[in-house]
Amino acid sequence: MTLEHLPENAQTPSAEGSSTYTTTEVQNHYARVALDVLEQLDDQAICGCESCDDTPSRTSEAKELYTREIMDNLPEGALAASRGCGDPVAKAQLAPGEVVVDLGSGGGIDALIAARFVGEAGYVYGIDMTYEMIELAERNAVDAKVANVEFVQGTIEEIPLPDASVDVVLSNCVINFSDDKPRVMREACRILKPGGRFVVSDIVSYAPIAKDAFEPLCRIVGCTKGMQSAESYRTALEDAGFVDIVLEPKTTYTLDILEQKARAKNRMRFFESIADEPAIEGASGSVIIYAYKPQN
Ligand SMILES: C[S@@+](CC[C@H](N)C(=O)[O-])C[C@H]1O[C@@H](n2cnc3c(N)ncnc32)[C@H](O)[C@@H]1O
Repeated sequence: MTLEHLPENAQTPSAEGSSTYTTTEVQNHYARVALDVLEQLDDQAICGCESCDDTPSRTSEAKELYTREIMDNLPEGALAASRGCGDPVAKAQLAPGEVVVDLGSGGGIDALIAARFVGEAGYVYGIDMTYEMIELAERNAVDAKVANVEFVQGTIEEIPLPDASVDVVLSNCVINFSDDKPRVMREACRILKPGGRFVVSDIVSYAPIAKDAFEPLCRIVGCTKGMQSAESYRTALEDAGFVDIVLEPKTTYTLDILEQKARAKNRMRFFESIADEPAIEGASGSVIIYAYKPQN
């Protein structure tokens, strides 16, 4: 995730997960991401794909997360807008005929991958609060020739789907944005059918992070609204009614990994400001979270 469009003077994030950037600022940021990709796709359509300098390319964050085989079957617009921190579909063991929702679907990358797994008998909803992302995701679905997917503008705190209507809740690096994470977990549990599963990529903290180190850390790994601790993630899921909760670490952010990420995103100034903080080493990381709604 890149935060280059967010204002420098926004409030400093806190490790406790309290509000930092406003929802409007986050929405504006992702609207810009989507519009940039849409504009590049339009330029590409006008000037002919190979010759455009600014063709959306696979140098996006997608290539760190998805296999070449998966990427080869996705439109450029979905790859270019990818801002996740994992590959939840690869972990969800989706079966033909299942109904899936992707919370914070962005440019639609995971929803489109999921749509292929559930096949024509299944269905995928992508929910995102940013209108421009919905527009981009819809265009990507057309480009991917995928018909069993629908993108709906809405929030993950008030998911626009009925009770017990989906088999699987997916999400990729979005719940950390919510000002009310327990409510998101309750909503996820509400819309799942009994026995349904929650398979989510996200970023969590494992140890307290000093307030002044948090902002640069977020600029490198992307945790705009403040990540929650692994422990409070588990508690919120339990309180929402989930069982069999597992948090599986994906990438633990050591200083070496943070440096690599900062270098790749041209954000070395943020890394330099935390490089001497020993407490940053391994204090956060991306995880895959599995949880189940009880059968009854
Ligand atoms: C980091 S991007 C991830 C997008 C996508 N999951 C992916 O992997 O590329 C975050 C997305 O979540 C959306 N988002 C953030 N907070 C949200 C909320 N409270 N409700 C709905 N969508 C939200 C943003 O509009 C944005 O498209």
